[in-house]
Amino acid sequence: ARLVVLVSGSGTNLQALLDATADPAYGARVVAVGADRDDIEGLRRAERAGVPTFVVRLGDHADRDAWDTALAEQVAGYEPDLVILAGFMKLTGPVFLRKFGGRTLNTHPALSPSFPGMHGPRDALEYGVKITGATLFVVDEGVDTGPIVAQVAVPVLDDDDVASLHERIKVSERQMLVDWVGRLAREPFTVDGRRIIRQQTKD
Ligand code: GRF
Repeated sequence: ARLVVLVSGSGTNLQALLDATADPAYGARVVAVGADRDDIEGLRRAERAGVPTFVVRLGDHADRDAWDTALAEQVAGYEPDLVILAGFMKLTGPVFLRKFGGRTLNTHPALSPSFPGMHGPRDALEYGVKITGATLFVVDEGVDTGPIVAQVAVPVLDDDDVASLHERIKVSERQMLVDWVGRLAREPFTVDGRRIIRQQTKD
């Protein structure tokens, strides 16, 4: 399967995918990495791996719809089977979702439906939950609301701050992402309401 990965930051989730896809048995390869900004470690990770990159900046477009259309066109040029948002900090728009809806995955560093949005680890810490985690979901038009593919639980420790909690979540988040992208790449799936329908398999 062909993966296009979109990033906005450090790209450790991307790196986990690049490492996993080095094994042909994984069943997927990263054909391009896109970003909404320049000069980020995520793009440098792609370059080091020899993967083509592209940048589609919101500020270079007249409005959000024009940006959304340009992003969808760039991604479409690489003919992905799956699009992975790996720390991509913008909401994809209606044009993008018309093209790639049902096959765009995102991860959120909290257990949905709790703590959606940009600050999942901070909001979980402030609320005082003792278990949080990460959620892999199929992107829809909402913020972290799409049908859930997988979740992993992560404990909140008494001496956590936002950074230490987010780092612990990210260890589990990367593993979940790699495991599930591999499975979904090897076996086509469909989305029915909030359910992910996978072909019958061994794993
Ligand atoms: C991840 O925790 C992701 O879920 C969140 O931002 C982080 C991105 O990390 N939205 P990285 O860029 O993959 O290192």
